Amino acid sequence: MLRTKSQNLAVIGLALALVIGGASSLVFAHGDAKGVVKDRMDLMKDMADSMKVMGAMIKGETAFDPALVVEKAGFLADHAPMIPDMTPEGSNDHPSEALPTIWQAWDDYVADADALAAEGAKLVEIATTGADQATIRAQYVKLGKTCGTCHDRFRKPKE
Ligand code: HEC
Repeated sequence: MLRTKSQNLAVIGLALALVIGGASSLVFAHGDAKGVVKDRMDLMKDMADSMKVMGAMIKGETAFDPALVVEKAGFLADHAPMIPDMTPEGSNDHPSEALPTIWQAWDDYVADADALAAEGAKLVEIATTGADQATIRAQYVKLGKTCGTCHDRFRKPKE
């Protein structure tokens, strides 16, 4: 399917909003998080930052730089497997937004983390092999969807 550039930008904007929406208020709201919950939130924030850096580039707000895509997508691919490790059973005390369904559907949770790792690795590969911007953009959108897939099922919706 062919899309115009502006439609693609709208998709990216939406993907970013879904993934990192409201992130600026999190530091304050989650100031009292401790231990593994805090580590997990910090990792998620770093992941959101990586998405933002790539998103700004893809939207044309910053200079297009495939090496930076490789770095940020590589960060996501490398750290995705740590998400299950950082989600020990029952680690959702206040102010965590992790849902108890994580431990009821553990294999799906791990599969969602694997999907993030796989799509991140694909973006690294695409950006390394000199793909054009449209191809990179399409893979970026795919990658962003893996964040939403896990959040939709395993993270408390925003009030
Ligand atoms: C395998 C599941 C999973 C994947 C994949 C995932 N997340 Fe999360 N994310 C969570 C869970 C669970 C929480 C809630 C953590 C908590 O509050 O204890 C969360 C919380 C967050 C938060 C809020 C952090 C905070 O300070 O409360 C942000 C931002 C975030 N994720 C960004 C991302 C981005 C960006 C991606 C993709 C690049 C991503 N996540 C992929 C499970 C996932």
